[in-house]
Amino acid sequence: MNKLRLRDLEVRGKRVLVRVDFNVPTEERDGRTAITDDTRIRESLPTISYLRENGAKTILMAHFGRPKGKPVDKYSLRPVADYLHTLIDHPVAFSHDTIGKIPEEIIAHLNEGDVTLLENVRFHPGEEANDPAFAESLAKLGDLYVNDAFGAAHRAHASTAGITKFVKQSAMGFLMEKEIQYLSHELAKPAKPFVVILGGSKVSDKIGVIKALMEKADSILIGGAMANTFWKAQGVPIGASRVEADKVDLAREILDLAKKKGVRFLLPVDAIETQKVEAGSPGRNTGRVTPTHGISDGWQAVDIGHATVTLYEDEIAKAKTVLWNGPVGVFEIPAFATGTIAIAEALARSKATTIIGGGDSVTAVTQAGLADKMTFISTGGGASLELLEGKELPGIAALSDR
Ligand code: 3PG
Repeated sequence: MNKLRLRDLEVRGKRVLVRVDFNVPTEERDGRTAITDDTRIRESLPTISYLRENGAKTILMAHFGRPKGKPVDKYSLRPVADYLHTLIDHPVAFSHDTIGKIPEEIIAHLNEGDVTLLENVRFHPGEEANDPAFAESLAKLGDLYVNDAFGAAHRAHASTAGITKFVKQSAMGFLMEKEIQYLSHELAKPAKPFVVILGGSKVSDKIGVIKALMEKADSILIGGAMANTFWKAQGVPIGASRVEADKVDLAREILDLAKKKGVRFLLPVDAIETQKVEAGSPGRNTGRVTPTHGISDGWQAVDIGHATVTLYEDEIAKAKTVLWNGPVGVFEIPAFATGTIAIAEALARSKATTIIGGGDSVTAVTQAGLADKMTFISTGGGASLELLEGKELPGIAALSDR
């Protein structure tokens, strides 16, 4: 990618504005906001540490939740500033406003190596509107701009895209570089066989990705509620399972396309079905799923079955590259997480390059304690899907060319 990189910038003594994705999951514990998964913050540390070690004054900008253009207490980044302080073992000055006098004052007193975090950029309506005036007010706070917020790179907002018009140089940070390396460059010419596992609930969310990957993949393995729509397209009874009724024709089209391209497009051969999708509701195996025998009337498919696990494990074992996006069952309910965990374990055993393409499959791999066994885990959700589709992300496109 012909874009400026952090190492291309002369940062010593400069005020460097860094857009990070600190949109992390939190929960209230004893009246305080606790971060339940700090991956995105930790993944920003190489960029932050590099800037500190090289004498920059680092000004972090981020969004948190969707406060819709006004201040909302529960979406304040204050707890993240405190948390970051413990991670880098250096004070993180928190700026209670995003633009104007308050951050200007703080930034004027920063020394080389110091760090400040601005309040949630989405407390201002100009952020999501990509308002040039707001972008300019942000730009005024620094000399250089670095975008390391891969998870928000698919948004054309003031702090991710518009700001680049008002700074001399804008470059990608280390996390951004790494995400592009794996999700784009590695997968441009993947070592073969290339196996793709796609789960999640909606075919419509993944259609772009399926079509793009169809050009490169040797096998595509389908799981999650998405499989129901494909089954329906094949005339398999799906009982009371979740389905996108208006996407059945599309599913048929994809199945035909796979045949034409010679891609092994595998649907589950059996499933776990239940009467209620809730913890404690018993599940049972359907036996072989065929056009005459599928999910029972009134029951819903909630996980892939044992025969499917074996089939998918065999595919993964043969692969040299594996990309996984989306759980293959309702993994939030432990009884229906077996298939998803088995896939995570198969990837952990594999010698292939294993890339976890963001979203819920990341949570699954992390919960299974197997994160360190994967080659790469993306910090993006929507951004990873769009990059995998081959789309240009506004947050990357807006950066200075090399
Ligand atoms: C994410 O969590 O996927 C990113 O931080 C983007 O957040 P958004 O979907 O609210 O724009």
